[in-house]
Formats: sequence, C-alpha cells, structure tokens
Amino acid sequence: MTGRLQHKVALITGGGAGLGAATAKRFAEEGALVVVTDIKLDGAERVASGIRASGGRCEARLQDVTDEALWDTIVEEIVATHGGLHVLVNNAGIAIPANVEQATIEDWRTTQAVNGESVFLGTRAAIKVMKDCGGSIVNISSIEGIIGEANVPAYNYSKAGVRVFTKSAALHCAKEGYPIRVNSVHPGYILTAMVEAGLASVPEEVRIEMTTRLQREIPMGGCMGEPLDIANGCLFLASDESKYMTGAELVIDGGYTCH
Ligand SMILES: NC(=O)c1ccc[n+]([C@@H]2O[C@H](COP(=O)([O-])OP(=O)(O)OC[C@H]3O[C@@H](n4cnc5c(N)ncnc54)[C@H](O)[C@@H]3O)[C@@H](O)[C@H]2O)c1
Repeated sequence: MTGRLQHKVALITGGGAGLGAATAKRFAEEGALVVVTDIKLDGAERVASGIRASGGRCEARLQDVTDEALWDTIVEEIVATHGGLHVLVNNAGIAIPANVEQATIEDWRTTQAVNGESVFLGTRAAIKVMKDCGGSIVNISSIEGIIGEANVPAYNYSKAGVRVFTKSAALHCAKEGYPIRVNSVHPGYILTAMVEAGLASVPEEVRIEMTTRLQREIPMGGCMGEPLDIANGCLFLASDESKYMTGAELVIDGGYTCH
C-alpha cells in the first residue's frame, strides 16, 4: 500500500461483483475507507469481508441505485458516520442484449434508469456534500458510449448519456467554484459476469463469431482486459494525481476504439 487514497472515504455502487469489486479492493489497498453498495447485499458483504480480512477498511450497504430517496440517505449516513465523502464511483450497470427491432420499452426504460438516471442521482447527491470539502466523481460509461453495437442499443444510449452528462456536471462544478472533479471511464471488453452473461445469451455460432472478431480487433494481443485494469484507472481519477482533470474520458480498451 502506498496510501494514494489515504484519508479518503469512497462510495462504490454495484461493488458486489466485477469491476466495482476490483475497484473497491484497489481503493482499500491504497488506504481509502470504502463503502460498497449493491442491489445484491450478499455480494457486497462478501467483497467487504474479503477486504477487511486483508487488512482494509470496507463496509457493505444494500442500495438500488434507481431509488432516488435512498441516495440522500446513504450519502448523509456516510458523512455522519465517517466525517465526509470524497470519492463516488457510479459503477452499477446492466446490459440487456436486444437489437433495435427486438428491444422492448420496458427493457429500454430499465436500462436508462439503472445506467443513466442513477448516475444523475448519485452525482447530485454527492455534489451536495462535496461542494465545500471537495471530491472526485467517477462515472463508469463504456466504449459503448462512444461507438455503437447492433445488439445493445439501449445500453449504447445510456452510456452515451453518461459520457456527456459527466462533462455537463464537470462544467457546472467548475463554474460554481466547487472543488469537485467529474470524469468518465470507458472500459472496453473486460471479462466479468456481465460480459460472460452477454456471451452466454447468444447462440454458439454468434459467440464464436464475436470471440473471433474481438481477437482480431483488440489491437493489444486480441485479449480482453482484467477488472484490475479498470480499477487502476478509477484509482488515478479518484486520487489527487488527477487534480487537473475534469470532464475527461479515460478509455481503457486495449486500443479497440482506435480504429
Ligand atoms: N465488463 C465490461 O466489459 C464492461 C465494459 C464497459 C463498461 N462496463 C460497465 O462497468 C460497470 C460494471 O460492470 P461489470 O462488468 O462489473 O458488471 P457485473 O454485472 O459483473 O456487476 C455489476 C454489479 O451491479 C449491480 N447492480 C445491478 N443493478 C443494480 C442496481 N439497480 N442497484 C445497485 N446495484 C446494481 C449488480 O448486482 C452487480 O453486482 C457497469 O456500469 C458496466 O456497464 C463493463
């Protein structure tokens, strides 16, 4: 541990699995007190107890990120218990594969609520408590917020919204003179439950075609990234090392979007 997040309190949504869990672990290794929330409390508790067993500081909370009222409750409780909130990672997200002809309005709205509206709710709640003492908000978008993919139009729409919303919130904070930075992270293909479920949901010939295409099109060795690659990007944006960055897009995709 080198203490890059020493004295910081961080809230990570959807931290019970995948990228959020890896980020929570990495933040705790660097000295942060981490609050991991998830709609699946058992996952969040597993992550928190694993971190505590390794000597880190972490607690788990049940949170559905689409619940507006709960956002203020959780953020205010963190401030009351731990004296402040310095980092928010809006990480919780879902992907429901269905092309534009197949997608239902229910799935579309759920995707926008979980991936998009929650980022607005979280950012608004965090600004309220960070505006005097400062903070860093990290919004997890995706390369799918920059480029399109035929099988996930609802996901594309939500993640593109997160990308530009981040810039809007960053400009607002700067204009108001709040010491708050707001940046987005754009992971490429990272092997987590979300990607595994996406691959499992398609017929075998499509899966083989997708895997072959990724091997061909990911410039860095044709392989998917690891959750730690994203966790390290979040760590940089959460820490004071990125103190002159706001409204920026950190793309971590092995070069996929270069061509
Ligand atoms: N894995 C990738 O390749 C990849 C690529 C680009 C972007 N992302 C984004 O990174 C983030 C994390 O993805 P992941 O791959 O770790 O997914 P994951 O499915 O492994 O984990 C997501 C977590 O979010 C939680 N969650 C879902 N809905 C929630 C809700 N309403 N409230 C609170 N928690 C909720 C889940 O329970 C789960 O623990 C997502 O925003 C995703 O869109 C992932």
